[in-house]
Amino acid sequence: MTATLRVSNLSKTYGSGDHAVHAVRNVTFESDAGSFITVVGPSGSGKTTLLAMVGALLQPTEGVIELDGRDVSRLSGRQQAQFRREGVGYVFQSNNLIPYLTARENLLLMRTISGKNGREGRERAEQLLDELGLTSRADAVATELSGGERQRVAIARALMNDPRVVLVDEPTASLDSERGKQVVESLVREVKGRNKLGIMVTHDMAMAEMTDRILEMRDGEMTERNRPSIPDASA
Ligand SMILES: Nc1ncnc2c1ncn2[C@@H]1O[C@H](COP(=O)(O)OP(=O)(O)OP(=O)(O)O)[C@@H](O)[C@H]1O
Ligand SMILES: [Mg+2]
Repeated sequence: MTATLRVSNLSKTYGSGDHAVHAVRNVTFESDAGSFITVVGPSGSGKTTLLAMVGALLQPTEGVIELDGRDVSRLSGRQQAQFRREGVGYVFQSNNLIPYLTARENLLLMRTISGKNGREGRERAEQLLDELGLTSRADAVATELSGGERQRVAIARALMNDPRVVLVDEPTASLDSERGKQVVESLVREVKGRNKLGIMVTHDMAMAEMTDRILEMRDGEMTERNRPSIPDASA
């Protein structure tokens, strides 16, 4: 089944009256499964707020977020919890691993949470550890990992449950450019190969260029960013 994301007239206002912050203003865009979008824009422009709403972590003030025709912002509490657990993989700006568990245990915990234990989960964990270059660090406790290693564990963890939507906020911030490129390549492969919807926030244009489409946030408003045109070979 193909996932389609349709975001219509989405707004988020924090606070009210004189203290109101219009973090996201009337944002509309669509995306198909297998498509990987980058969101760029200055600090405070609403990128994380947008991602949180798409992942059903934050209630929009106005607007609709439809995934496969279902309005995810208006699910019941229980449906919303299930969607967050099974439908979405998140990588936050701060990666929030469980500090007392090893890299591998942080991944396996996801399977436990969604009630799918067993061999399939263990194989998936090993595959992701390998893909993200973490096999040799799999038994290290999270506090013993470098910032970049932790970030890669967080990405692997987000992919564990095979979510429909993958949301990643600054996944390459603590990685050098070669490692960053590999991580984004893994994400692109995952999104394309498994027909997911991917949305990544980054400040790094080299990473953005590896995705299908670049959307730009500015003061809460979104515009499509046109790439420098590639000369048309057929012309
Ligand atoms: N919980 C909150 N309460 C009030 N204001 C908030 C809250 N979260 C974010 N904001 C404000 O909303 C605006 C958008 O914040 P957001 O975190 O979405 O920006 P961002 O584009 O992700 O920035 P950065 O690149 O620094 O991560 C900012 O002005 C921010 O201060
Ligand atoms: Mg942010």
